[in-house]
Amino acid sequence: MDYNPLAPGVIENPYPYYAELRNKAPVAWIEPLQAWAISRYADVDFALRNPQIFSSSEFTKQTLGDLNPVPEVPWILDMNPPDHTRLRKLVNKGFLPRLIRNLEPRVQEITRQLVASLKSQTEGDLVSALSGPLPTMVIAEMLGVEPERLDDFKRWSDDVVLGTSRPSDEVIRTRVRQSGAALRNYFERMIERRRTDPGEDVITALVRAEEEHEMLSAAEILALAVLLLLAGNETTTNLIGNAVRNLLRHPEELAKVRADRTLVPSLVEEVLRYESPVQLIPRLTAREVELEGGKIPADATVFLLLGAANRDERKFLEPDRFDVTRNPQDHVGFGYGIHYCLGAPLARLEGRIALDSLLFDCPPFTCTREHLPQIASLIVRGVQTLPLHFAA
Ligand code: HEM
Repeated sequence: MDYNPLAPGVIENPYPYYAELRNKAPVAWIEPLQAWAISRYADVDFALRNPQIFSSSEFTKQTLGDLNPVPEVPWILDMNPPDHTRLRKLVNKGFLPRLIRNLEPRVQEITRQLVASLKSQTEGDLVSALSGPLPTMVIAEMLGVEPERLDDFKRWSDDVVLGTSRPSDEVIRTRVRQSGAALRNYFERMIERRRTDPGEDVITALVRAEEEHEMLSAAEILALAVLLLLAGNETTTNLIGNAVRNLLRHPEELAKVRADRTLVPSLVEEVLRYESPVQLIPRLTAREVELEGGKIPADATVFLLLGAANRDERKFLEPDRFDVTRNPQDHVGFGYGIHYCLGAPLARLEGRIALDSLLFDCPPFTCTREHLPQIASLIVRGVQTLPLHFAA
């Protein structure tokens, strides 16, 4: 069938294409990508649970290609056991659980400031005023980026993310390369400094992280720092944006959350399912494999369509209904298995705090534009801008 994830019609609304794929071609060869795509929940779930068959070794090759700013080491996303197991153990240790819990008051504070400025005018863009800056400011602080470098940092990060849309325009490609080099240079110097001048940040934790006398190499830390920045920015921005957009499209669901604040965490899970910020992830088959939907040969690139699996009627009741009370626990919006999103607790925290503040600290709002252009990306789904009008 005629499915190309980069075609404007698909970027606008992929869901009818996903339904057709699930029903007519659950294992489909996608000519423009020179790859297979799987769309049913059962098959995506099988692939995520079987990394020995569905290898991750081509992740950055398929997503960043020759625009990868740290090509000399595999990224954690590219790794398979046992290398992945070792690195993930080190990163888990140096990184999230303790830090995230301690972070809540700071995420609240940053959100309060951004929301105050957003609602101080009657009209404002959610993306540029809140959902964009919030994750960048939080991760920048976690990584120990100086506040005065935030604008550079955001620009570099946005440019490198542009590289995941497979740009062919040489002007854009040059910009992506230059920003990648600047980001790299910035982190290299920071990693060196933290060795002699440790701080309370994630880079210091990664420099110190040790597991059975093994430490991370400078290049591994560099790739992780860049990934933490890239993986957590546009994705979380789109979680918040997709939530607001769908609440405005479904006023009855908005009314339910406004009437019961405890529904905010369930709203976050439903957005991760219904309008997944990460729509697809690549794998490479280590051998021929027979799935529910059909057979895939060995050495084949396969895109797991998370956004399609999360709308599979074989798995979810009325999957095309946006239901803020559903609280789905088994969506694959953060993936599953060994590569399950490292930043999930942070993304959930930021999503909950931002949405709670928008719904309960602001006057009621509407969207001032009929048509909202989508980001032209292979991987992420979200709107470029979301102009809001606040009631007086
Ligand atoms: C709503 C926001 C987010 C979404 C939807 C999301 C989605 C995902 C998905 C689907 C994967 C699995 C990739 C795979 O299996 O190949 C993943 C992995 C990952 N995510 Fe997230 N992510 C989000 C936020 C974040 C944040 C805030 C961070 C960090 C600050 C982060 C860091 C990572 C890392 C490091 C991995 C790789 C883990 C590994 O390979 O073991 N993500 N994410």
